[in-house]
Amino acid sequence: MKPLPPIHPPLVNASGILSYPEVFRAFEKAGACLGGYVTKSVGPVEKAGNENPVVVYSEEKDAPVLNSLALPTQSPDDWEKDLSTLRLERSRLIVSIYGGTPEEFAQVAERMAPFADALEVNLGCPNKVPGERTIMESIGQVPSLSGEVIRLVRAACEKPIVAKLSPNSDYLAVAEACLAAGADALGCGNTLGPGLAIDLTSRQPILAGTTGGVSGPALKPINLRMTYEAYARFQCPIIAYGGIAAWRDAVEYTMAGACVLGIGTAFLGKGTHESAALTRAIWEGVLAYLDGLSFPDLVGAAHGLSAPDLTHA
Ligand SMILES: Cc1cc2nc3c(=O)[nH]c(=O)nc-3n(C[C@H](O)[C@H](O)[C@H](O)COP(=O)(O)O)c2cc1C
Repeated sequence: MKPLPPIHPPLVNASGILSYPEVFRAFEKAGACLGGYVTKSVGPVEKAGNENPVVVYSEEKDAPVLNSLALPTQSPDDWEKDLSTLRLERSRLIVSIYGGTPEEFAQVAERMAPFADALEVNLGCPNKVPGERTIMESIGQVPSLSGEVIRLVRAACEKPIVAKLSPNSDYLAVAEACLAAGADALGCGNTLGPGLAIDLTSRQPILAGTTGGVSGPALKPINLRMTYEAYARFQCPIIAYGGIAAWRDAVEYTMAGACVLGIGTAFLGKGTHESAALTRAIWEGVLAYLDGLSFPDLVGAAHGLSAPDLTHA
């Protein structure tokens, strides 16, 4: 297994939210406390994704968050251009990738690997553009298919591979297939569902794609459980995603087994400066909770084991 690159502090953005190179630069300038940046998932060809509205989001307390973007992406050529001029001063770059077939995953991996400190393989997206033919809806539910994707990506590049799981699946079986095929870490995990939101005025589904993946606070207990179970079974490095909005969430996921924490939905509705301030508040809160203990000592603490140092080689 290849170690994950050092990610200090162990916070990243989640793919799809503030996940473009110009935002990473702005984040660094704004003093964000992110040890790594994850790109929007890069696909094999340029794709527009679903029409608007693609996000259900409101500032109201307990409002659910759904998205039906269906993986819009610029072309790999444009990604190469953008990433070749990106210079991150303190942070690592994780490039998220997807494909419509296992072979396409490998093609994208080969092209993106030179720019990345690690690749995150997106193994499931509950949204698609009507009529689209893709394995993205089902891939994360079929261990052999996920394993095949990771096997081809492993053959295509030398970089550490994070297999990002879908909560809509027998994720431990998928994780096992991915780790056996050469994944170095798990991403726990993607959005749940899809779910539905209906507008009271129009009496129609809000999302143009009708349904969308659920993220944010509603997702947290599900992906926390995934993190906990994955750590208990595999004791491998885990990047956790799902409703991390405050230091308490970060501490819970760490104790469940995550060694890196991803923030996504919590950035929605915030500009770069406010988002950067949130990352600082989360990390300061974690440090205060640690009270002199080292972060690796907290990883997996909820399992009552003495945890191995999985954060860095
Ligand atoms: C608007 C939006 C776009 C997303 N796009 C991607 C994507 O391109 N690739 C991916 O792997 N996950 C994507 N996700 C999922 C997030 O990376 C993350 O796994 C999930 O939202 C849970 O974290 P959160 O609750 O902090 O948002 C997206 C999520 C949202 C809300």
